[in-house]
Amino acid sequence: MRLTDTPAWRKLQQHQKDISGIHMRDMFAADPDRANRLSIELDGIYIDYSKHRITAETLDLLFSLADQADLKNRIDALFNGSLLNRSEQRPALHTALRSPAGTAIKAGNTDISRPIHDELSRMEQFVNRLRAGEIKGYSGKSINTLINIGIGGSDLGPRLAYDALKDFKTSSLSVHFVANIDAREINAALSGSDPETTVFMVSSKSFSTEETLTNAKTARQWLLERGCNEPEKHFIAVTANITAAENSGMPSENIFKIWDWTGGRYSVWSAIGLPVAASTGMDNFYQFLAGAHCMDEHLHTRPLAKNIPVILGLLDIWYINFFNAKTLAVIPYDQSLHYLPGYLSQLIMESNGKYIDQDNQPVDYNTSAVIWGNVGTNAQHAFMQFLHQGTHLTPVDFLLGMNHSEDQKAHQDILVANCIAQGEALMAGNSHMLSEIKPDYKIIPGNKPSTTIMYGQLTPYTLGMLLAMYEHRTFVQASIWNINPFDQWGVELSKKISASIIDELDGHKTNSTHDSSTSNLIKRYLKSIDSK
Ligand code: F6P
Repeated sequence: MRLTDTPAWRKLQQHQKDISGIHMRDMFAADPDRANRLSIELDGIYIDYSKHRITAETLDLLFSLADQADLKNRIDALFNGSLLNRSEQRPALHTALRSPAGTAIKAGNTDISRPIHDELSRMEQFVNRLRAGEIKGYSGKSINTLINIGIGGSDLGPRLAYDALKDFKTSSLSVHFVANIDAREINAALSGSDPETTVFMVSSKSFSTEETLTNAKTARQWLLERGCNEPEKHFIAVTANITAAENSGMPSENIFKIWDWTGGRYSVWSAIGLPVAASTGMDNFYQFLAGAHCMDEHLHTRPLAKNIPVILGLLDIWYINFFNAKTLAVIPYDQSLHYLPGYLSQLIMESNGKYIDQDNQPVDYNTSAVIWGNVGTNAQHAFMQFLHQGTHLTPVDFLLGMNHSEDQKAHQDILVANCIAQGEALMAGNSHMLSEIKPDYKIIPGNKPSTTIMYGQLTPYTLGMLLAMYEHRTFVQASIWNINPFDQWGVELSKKISASIIDELDGHKTNSTHDSSTSNLIKRYLKSIDSK
């Protein structure tokens, strides 16, 4: 039966009509216990989902939808290594990367727990030596700079976690991230670095990504031009394609392995997270894994009605499929998480931006929302107007860290007050005071949904929990929609076209098979080179 024909879906459609005229203000007024009932806590993370356009019946119907989509079994299948990534005939076992040693986990017939922990040990040895100044460059000086070269999942996760955990930095190592093929980014990283003391970490699951390989080549050239006679001492790699890394001249002891069952956007838990470990130390990296494992256990063992990623994923379904919401805004009131919206846009949109379902049929409902956002309070002075008075319904995630250091109290109180005020204003608006509000353009309708995710200090453990929560929320959405969140075929076609255009630019010619717009753009670029 198609999802849209299931009784739960039909009932949700009717239910949306029944409650869409009810204001959340009235829901709160009618039920003083609403915030307590619609909130949930796990290991220091408190999630308030009471400011949503839901009743007890809404949740019941969403849980019925989850039952009809067989969500419980799908969650089991995620953990037991079933081939959930059907288009690539692979399991998706990122949860195994954060399982404690000694837990038997199978990918097909192979126990993968042992190799995962062996690789973590290799990473630990390297990280400890690097932090101790024992890794030396060609001239015998200790390495003091690490430049991560990778893009997409080989960049966004470590970049976010490294930046978010700067308060836990216990090394003088200088760390940079280079993703873009635009040479400005690598030039900026190289310009402040010393070839004698810099190591490049080439992070690429496939070891075939054009941007990454080109940036790595530029890095090598930079070393050679500055007198480096042993460039292999200045490169490490993290990849699932060991052969390609070795063929590029990388010594095998400098290569860390990831596996084909880890999607790029789910890989920060592997050696892809090495920059985080190098900066904060391996104990903190293990804490990061432990936080994620806590969220894994929660997803796997808690009933659906008390399950954080399930509740949040079903709320996404409620707005996307029944209120026709097209976007979700993520607004951390925590400067440490300023990379989070960008990270989540890959995690969620690359995972769930799909129109073909797992049975190879086009879907007849919307899938991933557009994920966007920025830190608060900056967002208030930029786009919050759109959320309060715009015409699109946009659910918001607020993330709020409790940073209690005395020297920052004056700032922190204002930050917290602003975050809490935004949620209240979005929910309540001022339209109940119509007689006092004139003219109409000052009326704020309210009834705009938001979730507030509160936590203590952003520790490695908490960050691990939060990122795993978003991974699983994405999985819950995909399970309801019956789509594969672990492939990304949509990005392949443009890679092929760009390869052929690169050839054309190289040969100074335009391929006649292009449309006139594309041909004109190529010609214009070639002309600009010629006129130089
Ligand atoms: O082009 C998309 C993508 O394949 C992402 O899924 C991935 O995270 C990124 O490119 C980088 O891929 P790789 O780690 O193989 O270089």
